[in-house]
Amino acid sequence: MKSAILGAACLVLCATAANAATATGGSFGALADGTKIDSVTLANGAGMSVRIITLGATLQSVIVPDKQGRKEDVTLGYDKAQDYLTRPNYFGVSVGRYANRIAKGKFSLDGKTYTLATNDGPNSLHGGAKGFDKRVWKIDAMSSGADAKVTLSYVSADGEEGFPGQMRATVTYTLNEKNELRLDYGATTSKPTVVNLTNHAYFNLSGNAARDVMGHLVTLKAERFTPVDATLIPTGERRPVAGTPFDFRKATPVGARIRDARDTQIRLGRGYDHNFIVDGKAGDLRTAAIVEDPVSGRVMEVRATAPGIQFYTGNFMDGTFFGKNQRSYRQGDAICLEPGVFPDAPNHPDFPSARLNPGQTYVNSMVFAFRTK
Ligand code: BGC
Repeated sequence: MKSAILGAACLVLCATAANAATATGGSFGALADGTKIDSVTLANGAGMSVRIITLGATLQSVIVPDKQGRKEDVTLGYDKAQDYLTRPNYFGVSVGRYANRIAKGKFSLDGKTYTLATNDGPNSLHGGAKGFDKRVWKIDAMSSGADAKVTLSYVSADGEEGFPGQMRATVTYTLNEKNELRLDYGATTSKPTVVNLTNHAYFNLSGNAARDVMGHLVTLKAERFTPVDATLIPTGERRPVAGTPFDFRKATPVGARIRDARDTQIRLGRGYDHNFIVDGKAGDLRTAAIVEDPVSGRVMEVRATAPGIQFYTGNFMDGTFFGKNQRSYRQGDAICLEPGVFPDAPNHPDFPSARLNPGQTYVNSMVFAFRTK
């Protein structure tokens, strides 16, 4: 009898423990034109929670405990939906159809040339004038349980922003009990096209952007990177990192070499704004980067299936953007680690391909795993 009662209690408690991750819907206000923006908060029993909003399928906040258990936000962003449109910094957004740059806003497929909006000097950046980050995505599904999940989708019309083919893009955010946040991007198309979907979170592990990230230790699992020209388009070279400020094969403070103007690539990027070629086999979910803030003790490991990862140190933030909690963001206040194919791949036949054909399903998966040290 006694054990039956204990058994029943365990059933309840164990079920609670095993189902600790929750997905909860809410509102994130409205845009200036009245369009309502929804939110979904994924939370687990280990103290982590993230908020995703339907505008740009954006990761609006990532709250993670530090070594003392203090729960603070480790991403930059805005408190109001309209700011994501008015002040384009791509904070935490889902970038598409093509993350990063396409030279001169032009590429060819099967002998036909396509022209995109040039919104970054002579080049197209992050999908053009109104990329996927500025579109309102639809919530397709959300669930609580051992993991908390939400799936969002956006259908991009044939010819939108100059890209061929109607594209259906999806992203599933999954939070588990191990403080791992997984993002699975997917896409299908009605005509041959190019695609590079990723997330553009700006991480600052100090919590609530209390300090800049120059003291964060970064490891990049990359033997080589792709140098750029003066407009940040890859030259085509795959340069070994050995002996350069781009060697992060061992954990190194971000700020250690960021001002080393003897290196032309540091000059051109105003710091780090480069694609690193992730070691190992693309398609395998392998460790691409590790970031550690020695003060808060927070550690973030990035695992990715993509061939490359863009390492960007917020070089264009100039103190004129006021983010969450009325915080002014300045150069070097965050690290972006954006897994994807290489910038301008559509114009580099020898880079891993960004082409997507009808009948194929594009996949780009990444995990941001948090722990403390
Ligand atoms: C690019 C930067 C760009 C930034 C915009 C990054 O992915 O590499 O050059 O300024 O996005 O937020």
